Amino acid sequence: MLKRLEELQEEGRRRIGEVNNLAELKEISVFYLGKKGALTTLLRSLGSVTPEERPEIGKKANLLREELERRIRTKEQLIKDELTADQWEREKIDVTLPGRPVRIGSKHPLTITMEAIKDIFYGLGFQVVYGPDIESDYYNFTALNIPPDHPARDMQDSFYFNEEFLLRAHTSPVQIRTMEKLFPQLPVRIIAPGKAFRRDDDITHSPMFHQVEGLFIDKNISFADLKGTLLLFAREMFGPEQDIRLRPSYFPFTEPSAEVDIKCIKCRGDGCRVCSGSGWLEILGSGMVHPAVLRSGGYDTLGVSGYAFGMGVERIAMLKFGIDDIRHFYNNDRRFLRQF
Ligand code: DAH
Repeated sequence: MLKRLEELQEEGRRRIGEVNNLAELKEISVFYLGKKGALTTLLRSLGSVTPEERPEIGKKANLLREELERRIRTKEQLIKDELTADQWEREKIDVTLPGRPVRIGSKHPLTITMEAIKDIFYGLGFQVVYGPDIESDYYNFTALNIPPDHPARDMQDSFYFNEEFLLRAHTSPVQIRTMEKLFPQLPVRIIAPGKAFRRDDDITHSPMFHQVEGLFIDKNISFADLKGTLLLFAREMFGPEQDIRLRPSYFPFTEPSAEVDIKCIKCRGDGCRVCSGSGWLEILGSGMVHPAVLRSGGYDTLGVSGYAFGMGVERIAMLKFGIDDIRHFYNNDRRFLRQF
């Protein structure tokens, strides 16, 4: 029996020494010290040894029990400490690391341009009004002196929902809507910013783009008023040295009509690649409101005259910021957007 005790001692020490997880340690504890464990069983059978041997074996068995209990407790603590250390390692936070920056968005270059245009005309007493993106054939064409089969419709091929409705091809229909709403109020002095749509797609044309329409109707409005206002606009937008040039043109809704150029912002008029050598860049269409348009809005009866203009916001933004491809505006590439 002494031999058996020695075996248990040796084996127990080894197993406790080798184990490295709590579940197996528990099994070892049960195996030696449990109610049906090896050591308990051995102590129970003390009755079968001689009375002389009994005290020595009993003492040794109790010492072994104490030893194994102590070893198991120590090992348990050791494993627990290691687990905690592991956990610390896994979960530790380095408070000295720099934080993740919170990136704040910025205004889109078209928004910036649109707001700049609005600011300038707002300062001149123009009211800002809006019209619908989905427009009827009547407002988009007919009321603007573009009857069915008029060749000017080809230049503004848009997207039709049916015979009657389309995505507006320009912001000019807001002229008619405004006159209808304000009649017979004077003056009518508005700008109408918004989207326009055309079957067009290349580096300077997008099927969806932005325009700002202008309309000023009052007694004694002349071409000189139009020119003065547009010169002031050009200087506010592109700098006090800026000059404009008016070229005779044709629009069904104005008579006379003019296309307006600014001095090339790159070469200042000498001629370069940006202005194709001409020294000038076209920025808008304009003219004196055609009598047929005044009639559509009811204002022909009041003995008034007016001017109108329409400018492309993308065009102006591209010139102002030196952007060479219209598609940059719509790609949502942060490398582009964060420059503004
Ligand atoms: N609606 C024209 C276009 O989209 C631009 C335009 C030209 C508007 C002359 C006007 C104007 O009000 O008078 O091309």
